[in-house]
Amino acid sequence: VSAPRSEVPRPPEPWPGAAPGEPAAEPTALAELADALAEQPPRIPSKYLYDERGSALFDRICDLPEYYPTRSELAIMEQHAAEMARALGPDATVVEYGTGTGRKTRLLLAALDRPCAYVPVDVAAEFLSAASARLAAEFPAVAVVPVWADFTRPFLLPPDVPRGRRRVAYFPGSTIGNFEPDEARALLAEMRDRVGPGGAALVGVDLRKDPRVLEAAYDDAAGVTARFNLNVLAHVNRRFGLAFDPSRFRHRAPWVDRAGRIEMRLVSTVRHEVDVAGRRYRFEPGDYILTEYSHKYRLTEFAALAQTAGWRTRRTWTDAEARFSVHLLET
Ligand code: TRP
Repeated sequence: VSAPRSEVPRPPEPWPGAAPGEPAAEPTALAELADALAEQPPRIPSKYLYDERGSALFDRICDLPEYYPTRSELAIMEQHAAEMARALGPDATVVEYGTGTGRKTRLLLAALDRPCAYVPVDVAAEFLSAASARLAAEFPAVAVVPVWADFTRPFLLPPDVPRGRRRVAYFPGSTIGNFEPDEARALLAEMRDRVGPGGAALVGVDLRKDPRVLEAAYDDAAGVTARFNLNVLAHVNRRFGLAFDPSRFRHRAPWVDRAGRIEMRLVSTVRHEVDVAGRRYRFEPGDYILTEYSHKYRLTEFAALAQTAGWRTRRTWTDAEARFSVHLLET
């Protein structure tokens, strides 16, 4: 008995969007890693959190009782997507910065009045193709145009992307919070240029709150977040043939009030050394490697940041507990 042929369309071929003179979307990275580890404090770029195991662990984080951001943002989209769609108007081209599971995007596209095109931009090519194929199957009237590029670097959209009536940059997940304020401003300004006059942006922004709630969200009782953070060491070991010993580090995620952020750290428990690309890195007990920042904003703080990037805030939505927010920005 032969299985019925799958109705799922072939994933659209991602368009390589790196601007001329830019390196390919995934640059060779050992030198970059060695430089990041030489910073004070030493860093491992947060992209290494997301290998296959890391992505699976992050999916589990999103379902943890302590990790509210995903649930809160979904609740906002479920409740207010219709209002967002009305404010955005018909025939929009949505440019998404990064791709997630697509749950929020689906709510937005379903609410929009005859959206013209959906253009996800992501550095993870396979993930991008799979997510694009799913959305293309669900929204046959929408042109789905995946662009393979690192959106933190200059990139181009394919010349044949339909313009629609209005371009909308979509940036959910409070990923904006993973950037330092200056980088966040630069990225918001890039979005402003990308959508052009009359364009808009929808940005998910996690809010400042009780540090106990924040710290629990980033250090859950079941230890899933600890495994997720420590997995970055196994990933760089495998990828670059290094010898980080995960048992010599502990996950810590303190709220740093003056910086308004959670800092994801891997704290060394013993004095030891690790060699990377011919350099030797020494760790004393208590020294830590930084893997990610997660900045939290007040509504007014984020509006002020957006304003310095050339946006005005037309509306904000929050969930019932005012934990998370979605900002509609206009040029
Ligand atoms: N972008 C997510 C956030 O800031 C990433 C994240 C969640 C994360 N938990 C983490 C990163 C733990 C490192 C360690 O909420």
